[in-house]
Amino acid sequence: MSSPNTSPTISDEQTVEERYLRQLFVRSQMTDFVADPLVMSKADGVHYWDVNGKQYLDALAGIYVVSVGHNNRRVIDSIKQQMDVLSFSPVMHGTNPLAVQLANKLAEVAPGDLDAVKLLSGGSEATEAAIKMARQYHKLRGNATKYKIISRYQSWHGSTMGSLSAGGLASRRAVNEPLAGGFVHVFPPTCYRCPFGKEYSSCDITCASLIGDVIQMEGPETVAAVMVEPIGHTGGIIDPPEEYLPMLREICDKHDVLLVFDEIITGAGRTGQMFAAETFGVTPDLVCLGKGISGGYAPLSALICRRSIADTFWGDSSSNPGFVEGHTFEGNPLSAAVGLATLSEIIDRDLCGNARRVGAHLKERLGDLRKHNIIGDIRGKGLFLCIEFVEDLESKAQFNPPIGQAVGKRALANGLLTRFDPHWIALGPPLIITEEQADEMVEILDRSITEVLAER
Ligand SMILES: Cc1ncc(COP(=O)(O)O)c(C=O)c1O
Repeated sequence: MSSPNTSPTISDEQTVEERYLRQLFVRSQMTDFVADPLVMSKADGVHYWDVNGKQYLDALAGIYVVSVGHNNRRVIDSIKQQMDVLSFSPVMHGTNPLAVQLANKLAEVAPGDLDAVKLLSGGSEATEAAIKMARQYHKLRGNATKYKIISRYQSWHGSTMGSLSAGGLASRRAVNEPLAGGFVHVFPPTCYRCPFGKEYSSCDITCASLIGDVIQMEGPETVAAVMVEPIGHTGGIIDPPEEYLPMLREICDKHDVLLVFDEIITGAGRTGQMFAAETFGVTPDLVCLGKGISGGYAPLSALICRRSIADTFWGDSSSNPGFVEGHTFEGNPLSAAVGLATLSEIIDRDLCGNARRVGAHLKERLGDLRKHNIIGDIRGKGLFLCIEFVEDLESKAQFNPPIGQAVGKRALANGLLTRFDPHWIALGPPLIITEEQADEMVEILDRSITEVLAER
């Protein structure tokens, strides 16, 4: 078999061979990857098939992207129709109707006065743009010294130099150091393993109040923004206590610091509302969307800001250059068509409601895995969930060697795609998933854990 209309010299089946994979960089270490390569060839609904015909239940929506499921005809038809009309417009000089329509749709569904939109192509572009918008906003208001960005250890905001500098993953930062200046890191709200050795709720939410202290120590006149994922991903689905984000809102308001939510994963319905901002009842000043608003059908991300911030960028061009940020593919009409169709699918089919319902069911069913006596914690909201493995439930001691990757790889061999880490496994399936499919995910995880424990 070969891909349609591409006249390949290599068949699809041959693409798993090392001699051909040597010409490609994937995300993993290539030496490991070629030993057991995963090359997907088609997908439908909540399933993938690899080039060998093996089927996978997609408990990860690709990587939190395929919100409306694979092979969604409405989205596919929208991009096909748009291709016949206009595939690219001159971004240097103008825009196109689809970009304007998508910006207005996003402004309509975004909470509060989040109202003006910069359309981009990937998550890193959106978080990078948020950093730039925060800095330029303060400059335009005469506060040029407000440039520092406060973000969290264990976070991930993207691969570009600014977003990487905001990120807090030591392993991904170290290989690129020195990183950009002006970034300050604080500890995340990891209740299960409180970085301050405290217990909720007698802790007074130190993880939030400390951010106020850090702003004071840095000097409020130097701080532009606090940037957080409402639910942190890379630390193992760090679901903050309910007081945390409202406290951040208050702290930021007090110091004229912008609050930025990186909702690249949590946006587009994943936590059971269109935005996690709504799930937590806190409106940020800037919000970054990516992954799920594209449904995976075309590269698409967005930065949305509050009306008062957007207005700062209007004015006489001799003194106000507008928002100085641009990319060749921003507001691309094909991506915008995809975004409009994906949003319509989420709204018309009430996929936020489905994420709440099936998410609650899946979380409860994950509780069944506690029978293995190695599940220390189950976290998350909607269809963004995680189980953390511990060797000792009492002391929370972690497995050595870690077990998470072994279980995740076994689940993959058993036909289930998840996000696995040394000590946790996360699930983020398409929002169209049914309770029966959620049950099947838990059954495969159950079997995979049993098999891995039997072999240790
Ligand atoms: C929370 C978060 N922010 C930003 C990004 C960067 O997005 P992208 O990989 O599309 O550049 C990611 C990617 O995984 C992410 O999870």
